Amino acid sequence: MLHVDKNFSFILFGASGHLAKIKIFPALYLLALKKRLPEKYSIIGFARTDMTDTAFRTQFESAVRADMGGEVNESVLQELLSHVTYHTGDYTKVEDFKSLAKKLTAQEKSWKDPVRVTYLSIPPSVFAPVLRNLCEGGIHDHKHKGRDFRCIVEKPVGHDSASFQQVRAALYSCFQREEVYLLDHYVGKEAIRNIFYLRFANPVIERLLKNTIVKHVQIAALEHAGIEGRAGYFDQVGTLRDMFQSHLLEMTALLTMRLLEDDASMKASRLDALRKLYLPPASDLSEIVMQGQYQKGTIGKESVKGYLEEADIQKGSKTPTYAAMKIMSRSSRWAGVPIYLRSGKRLKKKETRISIEFHDSTALGKDISRNRLDIIAQGEAGMKLFLQTKIGGSEPAFRPLIMEDPLVCMGDCFVEHSLLLLEAINGNQTWFLDPEEVQTCWNLIDPLQNYLSKDATPLHLYKAGTIGPEKAQEFIRRDGHEWFE
Ligand code: BG6
Repeated sequence: MLHVDKNFSFILFGASGHLAKIKIFPALYLLALKKRLPEKYSIIGFARTDMTDTAFRTQFESAVRADMGGEVNESVLQELLSHVTYHTGDYTKVEDFKSLAKKLTAQEKSWKDPVRVTYLSIPPSVFAPVLRNLCEGGIHDHKHKGRDFRCIVEKPVGHDSASFQQVRAALYSCFQREEVYLLDHYVGKEAIRNIFYLRFANPVIERLLKNTIVKHVQIAALEHAGIEGRAGYFDQVGTLRDMFQSHLLEMTALLTMRLLEDDASMKASRLDALRKLYLPPASDLSEIVMQGQYQKGTIGKESVKGYLEEADIQKGSKTPTYAAMKIMSRSSRWAGVPIYLRSGKRLKKKETRISIEFHDSTALGKDISRNRLDIIAQGEAGMKLFLQTKIGGSEPAFRPLIMEDPLVCMGDCFVEHSLLLLEAINGNQTWFLDPEEVQTCWNLIDPLQNYLSKDATPLHLYKAGTIGPEKAQEFIRRDGHEWFE
């Protein structure tokens, strides 16, 4: 059974941020609830806001309660909170890191082989000083040759290829390769890892995944949610960087990579799959990418604001909240198969899905539609195989036959951040990204983002609660396909 087998100090930079509240605190609670934490550990929030330990514990506690919807094990939560403290610090001041290092050394004195885990959930503007101060302030201890330190970095790492290179240089000038954990939480989701395992375990599916059988692929990450109070971040970033640069491209890699037998080669194979991806030649980039932005509307019974009316969004912002793009793979198996990626906020439903459409069936009779395989990772998670069966009568006519099974985790299941934290503390990098993967993704996204950021590039508006902009339909219809909703 997976558990954290080393005593650790966990230092969260950006401890008062949104991600900490919605993902990291609940993930730590779930590890405690499942009794996966070691005897000795500490969780330290580091941020600029001046706060006492008690005030920080209250924030931590409320975040866990909010996430668990009231169903909290009180003794587990109180025990966990007894390990939580706060360190007020300026990201740019080395003294604040030195005082923290002192605290850590005192606390870890009686621990056997402690691991220091730093988690960076901070804006790109403070990345460089934090990295420098981690090293110069003694939190990263060079004497241990990198065996006892981890630096977990949330995506997106960088803003484009050039800024990623700077972050990368700063990261690796201070830390060893095995100390850096580049995190994409989609790659931590059991249901998304399942894309890889389904292929492994089912040769029947694996044999279908090639260009002689597949007509086209759609990979979609559709969201109900808006920007959830993250205007400062999202308005600078937009959907292409936020969802495509890592989440959707990594899903594409899991689908198109070569399957190799062991975990060590799995990362290399993922990278190879990403390197084989390319943007199809186009006389105009509008043929391979388009963008949209939500206006006010209704989701379920709730009326929601338009993007431009959200708090702290720049007046007249052109930041996309929706995008669709087309990509292809040079791998001999996938050559010629268009892969369409799509993601948007404030849409009709929350769903993350891969749809693989197969070539035309022989036109034996009426109403034949193409076979299709859906792997639904979020939403009503499951697998669906769309077949055709003949209806009774002398004339051959057909109806769809859908074989489906929910993909429910039935074993030792974790939410993504719990699983990734556990793996990082234990030193397992398999499901974290290699810097070359991140670089390759930026190389693919950069030209499209540059095009989308131009004043002259159209931004197609859509009503919240719908399936997205009208133009998105035209975008895929041009190639003779339809979005699967
Ligand atoms: C994050 C993005 O990486 O993923 C968010 O920054 C997005 O904008 C989120 O909402 C979606 O994650 P999930 O796990 O809810 O599908």
